[in-house]
Amino acid sequence: MDWNTVHDKAKSVMSDAGLAYEDGNADIASGQADYDTLAWRRFGILPRMFQDVSSIDTSVTIGDQTLPTPLFGSPTAYHRLASADGEITSQNGMSRAGSFIVYPTNASEPVERFAKESHGAWWQQVYLFDDRATTEAFLERSLAQGPSALMLTLDCPGYKRDFGFRNSIDGTHEGESGNFPSMHMTDWTLNLATHITVDDIKRLIELSGLPVYVKGVMRPSDAIDAMEAGAAGVMVSNHGRRQVDGVVPVAYALPKIREALGPDATILADTGIRTGGDVFRALALGANAVGLGRPIQWAAAAGGEDGIVAIIDRITDELAHTMNSAGVAHVEDIDPSFLVPEQGPAAIAALGQTLR
Ligand SMILES: Cc1cc2nc3c(=O)[nH]c(=O)nc-3n(C[C@H](O)[C@H](O)[C@H](O)COP(=O)(O)O)c2cc1C
Repeated sequence: MDWNTVHDKAKSVMSDAGLAYEDGNADIASGQADYDTLAWRRFGILPRMFQDVSSIDTSVTIGDQTLPTPLFGSPTAYHRLASADGEITSQNGMSRAGSFIVYPTNASEPVERFAKESHGAWWQQVYLFDDRATTEAFLERSLAQGPSALMLTLDCPGYKRDFGFRNSIDGTHEGESGNFPSMHMTDWTLNLATHITVDDIKRLIELSGLPVYVKGVMRPSDAIDAMEAGAAGVMVSNHGRRQVDGVVPVAYALPKIREALGPDATILADTGIRTGGDVFRALALGANAVGLGRPIQWAAAAGGEDGIVAIIDRITDELAHTMNSAGVAHVEDIDPSFLVPEQGPAAIAALGQTLR
């Protein structure tokens, strides 16, 4: 199943409210919903000859985990929108495909049930509340279940704007929060922290003793600050275009962040990645591994665990094919020399200069 098939099938089984929430983003008004996907594809792939591509290796190592694919599940709220067992189905599908999901704080399944009924290593996504005690009480519950890393989301400050998609699942069974049963979607969004500092990264490291990745970084200076505070890595993401209407695509932010952090830093990326060719471009622009958000939920809706295994295998196969025909055998050898910005280097450089 490719992602188009998966999405069509998901549309036929998900509720209208669920689909509106899932597919929505902040750009609906300005019509740029697919802008990130298009931005990855503005980079043309430049094949290289005289290479031994008899054996293609798509595996990556993130921290102490080696995965057969550079794909993992980005944290997305409310997996029950897609399947009855929510995050359990998603994690079990990803684990069968050799990878994992970042389990969201705002999950459908409470963390205790999730950990008991799912297989394989998983990461915990962390949302900070204005009241840090609420965050820390939840973290205590989560840490007792043994996540292997934390991912702190930075780019979702308590928002007051009422995008229709955010509230479409308010009060529905699918929109019930497993970890905070008394909170509806709207309560959530209003209570998220409006001032996160690098001290919050330090505090999470101290509390958990785990690697802490920081998600939602788009500027090199923020990436440097996060790494200096002790982050294990950064995730370059614009939250699936769900925050800033008109946000810069990740494809343009990512290379600047790789340049600022140097070759050894762990950099993850997501938003708009749908095919093996998109993954190839993200790796060439500086990512070590890439997240899929909506496609995991669509795949779970379309075919449960099997659907997830099918989409991960499919996109990984597409990546292997691209590597084979572009002349690169190992993921870590995919570098910027494989890409040509189709809009011309000057246009891309001009965009890049607006980022600091
Ligand atoms: C329905 C939905 C819910 C999301 N919930 C969260 C969340 O709870 N925490 C978070 O850090 N990111 C959240 N995100 C953002 C994703 O982690 C990810 O950045 C985004 O989906 C990537 O883009 P893609 O969907 O195009 O792959 C959500 C995205 C979607 C689509």
